[in-house]
Amino acid sequence: MTIKTALITGTSRAAGLGYAVARQLAELGFHVVLTARDVGRAESLAEQLRQDGYAATALWLDLTERSSMREAVDHLVRTFGHLDVLINNASTMPDFRVLSALDADLDDVRSAMQVDVLGPWELVQALRPLLDAAPAARIVNVSSLTAMQIATGLDLGANLRAPAHSIGKYMLNALNTMLARAFEGTPVLVNAVDPGETATHPERADERDRPAAESARGVVWAATLDSDGPTGGLFRDGKPLL
Ligand SMILES: NC(=O)c1ccc[n+]([C@@H]2O[C@H](COP(=O)([O-])OP(=O)(O)OC[C@H]3O[C@@H](n4cnc5c(N)ncnc54)[C@H](OP(=O)(O)O)[C@@H]3O)[C@@H](O)[C@H]2O)c1
Repeated sequence: MTIKTALITGTSRAAGLGYAVARQLAELGFHVVLTARDVGRAESLAEQLRQDGYAATALWLDLTERSSMREAVDHLVRTFGHLDVLINNASTMPDFRVLSALDADLDDVRSAMQVDVLGPWELVQALRPLLDAAPAARIVNVSSLTAMQIATGLDLGANLRAPAHSIGKYMLNALNTMLARAFEGTPVLVNAVDPGETATHPERADERDRPAAESARGVVWAATLDSDGPTGGLFRDGKPLL
Protein backbone atom coordinates (compact mmCIF):
# COMPACT_ATOMS: atom_id res chain seq x y z
CA MET A 1 0.00 0.00 0.00
CA THR A 2 1.32 3.47 -0.89
CA ILE A 3 1.89 5.72 2.08
CA LYS A 4 0.04 9.06 1.93
CA THR A 5 2.50 11.85 2.72
CA ALA A 6 2.10 15.47 3.79
CA LEU A 7 4.74 18.13 4.36
CA ILE A 8 3.93 21.15 6.50
CA THR A 9 6.20 24.22 6.70
CA GLY A 10 6.60 26.31 9.85
CA THR A 11 5.82 23.56 12.34
CA SER A 12 7.84 24.76 15.29
CA ARG A 13 5.29 25.39 18.03
CA ALA A 14 2.80 23.14 19.80
CA ALA A 15 0.27 25.99 19.84
CA GLY A 16 0.78 26.81 16.15
CA LEU A 17 -1.61 26.10 13.32
CA GLY A 18 0.99 23.95 11.51
CA TYR A 19 1.10 21.42 14.31
CA ALA A 20 -2.72 21.27 14.56
CA VAL A 21 -2.88 20.60 10.81
CA ALA A 22 -0.13 17.97 11.07
CA ARG A 23 -1.99 16.17 13.85
CA GLN A 24 -5.29 16.11 11.93
CA LEU A 25 -3.59 14.82 8.77
CA ALA A 26 -1.79 12.18 10.84
CA GLU A 27 -5.17 11.14 12.27
CA LEU A 28 -6.37 10.69 8.67
CA GLY A 29 -3.51 8.27 8.03
CA PHE A 30 -0.92 10.55 6.44
CA HIS A 31 2.77 10.19 7.23
CA VAL A 32 3.33 13.81 8.23
CA VAL A 33 6.63 15.58 7.67
CA LEU A 34 6.92 18.43 10.13
CA THR A 35 9.44 21.05 9.04
CA ALA A 36 10.91 24.09 10.74
CA ARG A 37 13.98 26.27 10.58
CA ASP A 38 14.85 24.89 14.05
CA VAL A 39 14.62 21.17 13.34
CA GLY A 40 14.90 20.32 17.05
CA ARG A 41 11.52 21.97 17.66
CA ALA A 42 9.89 20.11 14.77
CA GLU A 43 11.45 16.88 16.03
CA SER A 44 9.97 17.23 19.54
CA LEU A 45 6.50 17.75 17.99
CA ALA A 46 7.01 14.80 15.63
CA GLU A 47 8.00 12.70 18.65
CA GLN A 48 4.72 13.63 20.41
CA LEU A 49 2.82 12.40 17.34
CA ARG A 50 4.84 9.17 17.19
CA GLN A 51 4.14 8.57 20.89
CA ASP A 52 0.44 8.87 20.07
CA GLY A 53 0.87 6.16 17.44
CA TYR A 54 1.10 8.31 14.29
CA ALA A 55 3.71 8.34 11.53
CA ALA A 56 5.74 11.55 11.71
CA THR A 57 9.17 12.77 10.63
CA ALA A 58 10.92 16.08 11.27
CA LEU A 59 13.09 17.86 8.72
CA TRP A 60 15.03 21.12 8.64
CA LEU A 61 13.38 23.54 6.23
CA ASP A 62 14.17 27.25 6.32
CA LEU A 63 12.44 29.16 3.53
CA THR A 64 15.40 31.53 3.34
CA GLU A 65 17.89 28.65 2.86
CA ARG A 66 17.90 26.92 -0.52
CA SER A 67 20.13 24.13 0.81
CA SER A 68 17.47 23.17 3.39
CA MET A 69 14.87 22.82 0.62
CA ARG A 70 17.25 20.64 -1.40
CA GLU A 71 17.98 18.42 1.61
CA ALA A 72 14.27 18.06 2.41
CA VAL A 73 13.41 17.18 -1.19
CA ASP A 74 16.26 14.65 -1.37
CA HIS A 75 14.98 13.03 1.82
CA LEU A 76 11.43 12.75 0.42
CA VAL A 77 12.71 11.30 -2.86
CA ARG A 78 14.76 8.65 -1.03
CA THR A 79 12.08 7.82 1.53
CA PHE A 80 8.70 8.10 -0.20
CA GLY A 81 9.15 8.96 -3.90
CA HIS A 82 6.03 11.14 -3.92
CA LEU A 83 4.28 13.89 -1.96
CA ASP A 84 0.48 13.98 -1.65
CA VAL A 85 0.06 17.22 0.30
CA LEU A 86 2.11 20.39 0.71
CA ILE A 87 0.95 22.91 3.30
CA ASN A 88 2.67 26.28 2.93
CA ASN A 89 1.97 27.34 6.51
CA ALA A 90 5.12 29.27 7.48
CA SER A 91 4.94 33.04 7.62
CA THR A 92 6.65 36.03 9.15
CA MET A 93 5.13 37.55 12.25
CA PRO A 94 2.99 40.62 11.45
CA ASP A 95 4.02 43.87 13.11
CA PHE A 96 0.63 45.44 13.79
CA ARG A 97 2.23 48.58 15.23
CA VAL A 98 3.05 49.67 11.68
CA LEU A 99 -0.03 51.26 10.12
CA SER A 100 1.20 52.76 6.88
CA ALA A 101 3.29 51.70 3.89
CA LEU A 102 5.26 54.92 4.42
CA ASP A 103 6.47 53.63 7.79
CA ALA A 104 7.15 50.03 6.76
CA ASP A 105 10.62 48.66 7.33
CA LEU A 106 11.66 47.41 3.89
CA ASP A 107 13.74 44.65 5.49
CA ASP A 108 10.49 43.32 6.98
CA VAL A 109 8.90 43.52 3.52
CA ARG A 110 11.83 41.58 2.00
CA SER A 111 11.52 39.00 4.72
CA ALA A 112 7.76 38.61 4.15
CA MET A 113 8.37 38.24 0.40
CA GLN A 114 10.96 35.55 1.03
CA VAL A 115 9.00 33.50 3.58
CA ASP A 116 5.46 33.96 2.19
CA VAL A 117 6.11 34.12 -1.55
CA LEU A 118 9.56 33.26 -2.92
CA GLY A 119 10.20 30.41 -0.48
CA PRO A 120 6.88 28.62 -1.18
CA TRP A 121 7.33 29.27 -4.91
CA GLU A 122 10.79 27.73 -4.94
CA LEU A 123 9.61 24.89 -2.75
CA VAL A 124 6.78 24.00 -5.15
CA GLN A 125 9.25 24.01 -8.06
CA ALA A 126 11.64 21.77 -6.13
CA LEU A 127 8.83 19.42 -5.07
CA ARG A 128 7.17 19.27 -8.47
CA PRO A 129 8.48 15.79 -9.45
CA LEU A 130 7.23 14.44 -6.10
CA LEU A 131 3.84 16.17 -6.47
CA ASP A 132 3.51 14.82 -10.01
CA ALA A 133 4.40 11.34 -8.73
CA ALA A 134 1.45 11.36 -6.29
CA PRO A 135 -1.96 10.22 -7.61
CA ALA A 136 -3.60 13.63 -6.93
CA ALA A 137 -1.50 16.07 -4.95
CA ARG A 138 -2.94 19.04 -3.07
CA ILE A 139 -1.15 22.32 -2.28
CA VAL A 140 -2.56 24.58 0.42
CA ASN A 141 -1.28 28.11 0.89
CA VAL A 142 -2.18 29.41 4.34
CA SER A 143 -3.22 32.98 3.75
CA SER A 144 -5.37 35.63 5.40
CA LEU A 145 -7.96 37.92 3.88
CA THR A 146 -7.84 40.17 6.94
CA ALA A 147 -4.07 40.45 6.71
CA MET A 148 -4.43 41.46 3.06
CA GLN A 149 -6.71 44.35 3.97
CA ILE A 150 -4.26 47.19 3.39
CA ALA A 151 -2.80 45.61 0.23
CA THR A 152 -6.20 44.95 -1.37
CA GLY A 153 -7.77 48.25 -0.36
CA LEU A 154 -10.69 46.24 1.03
CA ASP A 155 -12.30 47.66 4.15
CA LEU A 156 -12.88 44.60 6.27
CA GLY A 157 -13.40 46.61 9.41
CA ALA A 158 -10.35 45.05 11.01
CA ASN A 159 -8.00 47.38 12.80
CA LEU A 160 -5.00 45.53 11.37
CA ARG A 161 -2.46 47.06 9.03
CA ALA A 162 1.08 45.55 9.12
CA PRO A 163 1.98 46.45 5.50
CA ALA A 164 4.88 43.97 5.18
CA HIS A 165 2.71 41.03 6.22
CA SER A 166 -0.22 42.34 4.17
CA ILE A 167 1.71 42.51 0.90
CA GLY A 168 3.31 39.13 1.64
CA LYS A 169 -0.11 37.46 1.92
CA TYR A 170 -1.42 39.46 -1.07
CA MET A 171 1.44 38.12 -3.20
CA LEU A 172 0.94 34.62 -1.80
CA ASN A 173 -2.62 34.80 -3.09
CA ALA A 174 -1.36 35.84 -6.52
CA LEU A 175 1.07 32.91 -6.41
CA ASN A 176 -1.83 30.65 -5.46
CA THR A 177 -3.71 31.75 -8.60
CA MET A 178 -0.66 31.27 -10.82
CA LEU A 179 0.17 27.83 -9.45
CA ALA A 180 -3.42 26.67 -9.83
CA ARG A 181 -3.27 27.77 -13.48
CA ALA A 182 0.14 26.13 -13.96
CA PHE A 183 -1.18 22.76 -12.72
CA GLU A 184 -4.35 22.92 -14.85
CA GLY A 185 -4.84 19.70 -16.80
CA THR A 186 -3.10 17.71 -14.04
CA PRO A 187 -4.72 16.15 -10.93
CA VAL A 188 -2.97 18.72 -8.69
CA LEU A 189 -5.30 21.21 -6.94
CA VAL A 190 -3.95 24.41 -5.37
CA ASN A 191 -5.94 26.53 -2.93
CA ALA A 192 -5.40 29.26 -0.37
CA VAL A 193 -7.01 28.98 3.05
CA ASP A 194 -7.64 31.71 5.59
CA PRO A 195 -7.74 30.01 8.99
CA GLY A 196 -9.47 32.97 10.64
CA GLU A 197 -8.27 34.60 13.83
CA THR A 198 -6.75 31.78 15.84
CA ALA A 199 -5.34 31.44 19.36
CA THR A 200 -1.87 30.35 18.31
CA HIS A 201 0.02 32.84 20.45
CA PRO A 202 -1.12 32.58 24.08
CA GLU A 203 0.95 35.69 24.97
CA ARG A 204 -1.32 37.88 22.80
CA ALA A 205 -4.54 35.92 23.13
CA ASP A 206 -7.83 37.53 22.20
CA GLU A 207 -10.96 35.85 23.53
CA ARG A 208 -12.52 35.99 20.03
CA ASP A 209 -9.71 33.83 18.61
CA ARG A 210 -10.68 30.24 18.03
CA PRO A 211 -8.65 27.15 18.91
CA ALA A 212 -6.00 26.06 16.40
CA ALA A 213 -7.67 22.65 16.01
CA GLU A 214 -10.86 24.37 14.81
CA SER A 215 -9.04 26.60 12.27
CA ALA A 216 -6.95 23.64 11.09
CA ARG A 217 -10.07 21.87 9.80
CA GLY A 218 -10.42 24.27 6.87
CA VAL A 219 -6.79 23.68 5.92
CA VAL A 220 -7.25 19.92 6.10
CA TRP A 221 -10.41 20.26 3.99
CA ALA A 222 -8.36 21.88 1.18
CA ALA A 223 -5.61 19.28 1.61
CA THR A 224 -8.02 16.39 1.11
CA LEU A 225 -10.31 17.66 -1.67
CA ASP A 226 -11.83 15.14 -4.05
CA SER A 227 -10.76 15.24 -7.70
CA ASP A 228 -13.75 17.44 -8.63
CA GLY A 229 -12.78 20.00 -5.96
CA PRO A 230 -11.97 23.64 -6.65
CA THR A 231 -8.56 25.05 -7.54
CA GLY A 232 -7.16 28.58 -7.34
CA GLY A 233 -9.60 29.78 -4.68
CA LEU A 234 -9.36 31.39 -1.25
CA PHE A 235 -11.46 29.64 1.39
CA ARG A 236 -12.27 29.77 5.06
CA ASP A 237 -13.86 26.69 6.62
CA GLY A 238 -14.48 25.28 3.14
CA LYS A 239 -16.38 28.36 1.92
CA PRO A 240 -15.08 30.79 -0.73
CA LEU A 241 -13.99 34.21 0.56
CA LEU A 242 -13.48 36.14 -2.67
N1 LIG B 1 -3.04 32.87 14.07
C1 LIG B 1 -3.90 33.58 13.34
O1 LIG B 1 -4.80 34.26 13.87
C2 LIG B 1 -3.80 33.58 11.84
C3 LIG B 1 -4.75 34.27 11.08
C4 LIG B 1 -4.65 34.26 9.71
C5 LIG B 1 -3.61 33.58 9.09
N2 LIG B 1 -2.69 32.92 9.85
C6 LIG B 1 -1.61 32.22 9.16
O2 LIG B 1 -1.52 30.88 9.63
C7 LIG B 1 -0.17 30.41 9.52
C8 LIG B 1 0.30 29.85 10.85
O3 LIG B 1 0.27 30.88 11.80
P1 LIG B 1 0.41 30.70 13.37
O4 LIG B 1 -0.54 31.61 13.97
O5 LIG B 1 0.40 29.27 13.73
O6 LIG B 1 1.82 31.37 13.65
P2 LIG B 1 3.26 30.80 13.86
O7 LIG B 1 3.37 29.68 14.80
O8 LIG B 1 4.04 32.03 14.15
O9 LIG B 1 3.62 30.24 12.44
C9 LIG B 1 4.56 30.73 11.68
C10 LIG B 1 5.62 29.66 11.49
O10 LIG B 1 6.43 30.08 10.41
C11 LIG B 1 7.76 29.79 10.77
N3 LIG B 1 8.73 30.55 10.02
C12 LIG B 1 9.05 31.85 10.09
N4 LIG B 1 10.08 32.12 9.27
C13 LIG B 1 10.42 30.95 8.66
C14 LIG B 1 11.39 30.57 7.72
N5 LIG B 1 12.29 31.43 7.24
N6 LIG B 1 11.45 29.29 7.31
C15 LIG B 1 10.58 28.36 7.79
N7 LIG B 1 9.63 28.66 8.71
C16 LIG B 1 9.56 29.95 9.13
C17 LIG B 1 7.83 30.09 12.24
O11 LIG B 1 8.98 29.45 12.77
P3 LIG B 1 9.81 30.01 14.03
O12 LIG B 1 9.12 29.47 15.24
O13 LIG B 1 11.17 29.45 13.81
O14 LIG B 1 9.75 31.50 13.96
C18 LIG B 1 6.53 29.45 12.70
O15 LIG B 1 6.71 28.08 12.89
C19 LIG B 1 0.63 31.60 9.02
O16 LIG B 1 0.76 31.54 7.63
C20 LIG B 1 -0.23 32.78 9.42
O17 LIG B 1 0.01 33.94 8.64
C21 LIG B 1 -2.74 32.90 11.20
